[in-house]
Amino acid sequence: MSRGRLHAADHLAAFIADDAGHAVGLATYSVVGKDTELVSIDSLVEGRGVGTALLGAVASAACAAGSRRLWLVTSNDNLDALRFYQRRGLRLVAVHPGAVDAARTLKPQIPVLGSHGIPLHDEIELAAEPAAVLRAVSGRRAAERDSM
Ligand SMILES: CC(C)(COP(=O)(O)OP(=O)(O)OC[C@H]1O[C@@H](n2cnc3c(N)ncnc32)[C@H](O)[C@@H]1OP(=O)(O)O)[C@@H](O)C(=O)NCCC(=O)NCCS
Repeated sequence: MSRGRLHAADHLAAFIADDAGHAVGLATYSVVGKDTELVSIDSLVEGRGVGTALLGAVASAACAAGSRRLWLVTSNDNLDALRFYQRRGLRLVAVHPGAVDAARTLKPQIPVLGSHGIPLHDEIELAAEPAAVLRAVSGRRAAERDSM
C-alpha cells in the first residue's frame, strides 16, 4: 500500500539482486508520467550494499524513463529506512498522518506496532531527482570501497 493505492508486486517492474545465483534482494517500481515510485525494496543480506545497488538500479531506470522525480513512502516506524534513503539523496517531502491506519482498513494484516515498538500510523514521503540519487549512491559506493 502507498498513498491509498494497493500494488500487486507481481505486476510491477523489478530488479532482483543476485549473488552467485542466489536472489538476495528485490526492488519493485512503477513509472507514471514523469514520476517513478520505488514501491518496495528488500534486502536479504543487510549491510553489504544490496539495498544501495537496488536503489541505484531503480534510479537508473527512472533516468532512462525520463522521470523528473523518484519518490517513495515509508512508515513512521522505519527509522533504518529513513536513514538509508536520506544518506542516498532522498529528501523528506511530506508526512501523511494516519495513512497507515487507513491502509490497515484495506489490509488488516498491517500490524499496530512497528519496528522499535513504535505505533504504526503515518506514511512519510521522500523524493529526489533520480540523477541526485544516482550521484549519492555512487558516492557511497566509492566511500565503502575506500574503507575496505
Ligand atoms: C532498507 C534496506 C533495503 C537497506 O538494505 P541493505 O542491503 O542493508 O543496504 P546497504 O547494505 O546498501 O546499506 C545499508 C548500510 O550498510 C552499509 N554498507 C553497505 N555496503 C557495505 C559493505 N560492503 N560492508 C559493510 N557495510 C556496508 C552502508 O554504509 C549502509 O549504512 P548507512 O545506511 O548508514 O549508510 C534493508 O534494511 C531492508 O531490506 N529493510 C527491510 C525492508 C524495508 O524496510 N524496506 C524499505 C521500506 S520503504
